[in-house]
Amino acid sequence: MTFELSEEHLAVQEAAREFAQKELKPGVIERDAAMTYPKEQVRMMAELGFMGMMADPAYGGGGMDTLSYVIAMEEISKVDNSCSVIMSVNNSLVCWGLETYGTDEQKQKYLPKLSSGEWIGSFCLSEPEAGSDATSQQTTAIDMGDHYLLNGTKNWITNGGTSSVHLVIAQTDREKGHKGINAFIVETSWPGVTIGAKEDKLGIRSSDTHTIMYNDVKVPKANRIGEDGFGFKFAMKTLEGGRIGIAAQALGIAAGSLDLSMQYARERETFGKPIAQHQAIAFKLAEMATEVEAARLLVYKAARLKDAGEDYGMASAMAKYYASEVAMKAATEAVQIHGGYGFVKEYHVERLFRDAKITQIYEGTTEIQKIVISRQILK
Ligand code: CAA
Repeated sequence: MTFELSEEHLAVQEAAREFAQKELKPGVIERDAAMTYPKEQVRMMAELGFMGMMADPAYGGGGMDTLSYVIAMEEISKVDNSCSVIMSVNNSLVCWGLETYGTDEQKQKYLPKLSSGEWIGSFCLSEPEAGSDATSQQTTAIDMGDHYLLNGTKNWITNGGTSSVHLVIAQTDREKGHKGINAFIVETSWPGVTIGAKEDKLGIRSSDTHTIMYNDVKVPKANRIGEDGFGFKFAMKTLEGGRIGIAAQALGIAAGSLDLSMQYARERETFGKPIAQHQAIAFKLAEMATEVEAARLLVYKAARLKDAGEDYGMASAMAKYYASEVAMKAATEAVQIHGGYGFVKEYHVERLFRDAKITQIYEGTTEIQKIVISRQILK
């Protein structure tokens, strides 16, 4: 395994870093405080090709590999995790899920708009009573002959207020259990789709997270993804890749916490010298640097396995589990290193501290990742 990035990967890294520092950093504190959706910033991400990086150029995507995507995610997540979750859900859940499992007709109709960022997509699996226990779907999609009738409620939906397309998981035949679950492409403009209030969250506050209600929504048969009963496997396979994106987000939070802490520790003086020269601080930085590096190796490994066409389910679970723990720890230490300055908004680390928590929860909690890993190693 080579540890060097190619020139193409380094170029992606440079472009994402420059964009994040120049365009996302100014205003990120204010957007977070006011829960303002980063409309202009998402438009710029679309223009730069960050909204459909891995999608086939034939469908308007960037045709890049997963490694490029995680490299860009890391840089953007050092600064603005509302933007990076909007990007991640659109890239690795919506575009990838559609491109991998959609029909030609579905791809032609929806993918160019989604991969170019003209439209944003949402992935609607979680429900009030079905978060970790994802097979317990209460949303129903009843087969009415030429269409399905969709009814139910989805919770904590990223991009919920802005998306034009939802990939919705719903139960068609309860007797068949998870084999009776289907996935559908639902346009938000269709009658019966209602967007609930925006959630007021601990972190990633400017991303728009909503409850969605479906009331007798008519979904054409042509909008079912895959064979009848494929919906749960669709969700699981798609989340395997999504988790690499969230792992990269967590990596970015950890690496951003380290960068800010290094800079501060070199500048801030106590007892007559920069705090970086106090062993108590230097050792914290050494631990953070080591753990960031280890997390990066796991994230890159999962991306490389996916790019090589090998199984990556366990690797993505390990990457997400470990990187999100590292993010939480590094962001906590960053606040500690900054002392009183770390507790106020101006120095950015308190936001990373709040943002870190969600990486241990969405796209499968830490505990779910451990279920996935333990089942693999014990089988
Ligand atoms: N690939 C393919 N098939 C899979 C699979 C995978 N990775 N994982 C499970 N399956 C299949 C199983 O083989 C089984 O099918 P068969 O009966 O045909 O063999 C079927 O799915 C059911 O699997 P399990 O018996 O393992 O199901 P389970 O009830 O024990 O649950 C679980 C498994 C891993 C815990 C799963 O429920 C899970 O991942 N839960 C977490 C859900 C999640 O990640 N939600 C995130 C919401 S999306 C989000 O956060 C997006 C956002 O906006 C940020």
